[in-house]
Amino acid sequence: MKTVLLALAGVAATAAMAQKSATQSIEEYRAMLADGNPAELFEAKGEDLWKQKRGPKNASLESCDLGKGPGVVKGAFVELPRYFADTGKVQDLESRLVTCMERLQGLNAAEIAKTPFGKGEQNNVTALATWIAAESKGLKFNLPQSHQQEKVAYEVGKRLFFMHSGPHDFACASCHGEEGKRIRLQDLPNLTKNPGDGIGFAAWPAYRVSNGQMWGMQQRLNDCYRQQRFPYPTFGSDALTALSTYLGVNAQGAKSIAPAIKR
Ligand code: HEC
Repeated sequence: MKTVLLALAGVAATAAMAQKSATQSIEEYRAMLADGNPAELFEAKGEDLWKQKRGPKNASLESCDLGKGPGVVKGAFVELPRYFADTGKVQDLESRLVTCMERLQGLNAAEIAKTPFGKGEQNNVTALATWIAAESKGLKFNLPQSHQQEKVAYEVGKRLFFMHSGPHDFACASCHGEEGKRIRLQDLPNLTKNPGDGIGFAAWPAYRVSNGQMWGMQQRLNDCYRQQRFPYPTFGSDALTALSTYLGVNAQGAKSIAPAIKR
């Protein structure tokens, strides 16, 4: 009996070591790639798209107000989502970009929202978000919470985060509600508080090595809803903005490394 137990303990220890080294090698891989993060290609494309005259109105996005005044890009990312008086809504980076694409360039916001991730204008939104995030690299998250709607967005986001749903009765909190959780060798950050510099909200948009895709935060959240076996909220929906507000406010003070590189 004793030998069996010892053998089992041995197996457990080996498994733990294997896990540790897998996590470590993913980290090493990331560090290696960080020197040449393919996200840079999306950054360059995003900067170009910002300045290019496009759409039925043949206009650039250079006068788009991302919250810090028309055309101000640096620092905008770490203060989003926030309330915008001209739309009367709290908006995240991606949905705000779509507003500007409609108002300034005459593109159809509803059409863009319906376009699948990785296709057509959605691809352009991701590239733009990647460049705008990169312009705030190293800055600390500092979402405003003074407008009533910003406070409501935070509260709604918090409730969505803890809401159990779907066939497995999962909530975001089931996977991201405490320290030290792990799934398929990925560390799961605790997102109910500031998870640290460059983790969680402070990492996306990110380039995903596993599928060679650049993902914005909306796609990140949608994929987590898929893991939760729950229908995706539509692009630009108030639900996604609320969740992002909750995560962003919790990340107060965390330094952004976006665009990051991920498994
Ligand atoms: C079944 C477990 C599970 C559930 C439920 C889940 N997630 Fe995730 N989440 C993951 C995994 C696994 C990753 C890492 C994926 C990867 O790196 O490929 C992740 C990554 C993330 C990240 C990025 C973390 C980082 O540092 O890069 C955020 C943000 C996030 N999830 C938010 C949410 C939110 C919000 C919800 C609820 C809508 C949610 N997740 C529900 C498993 C889950």
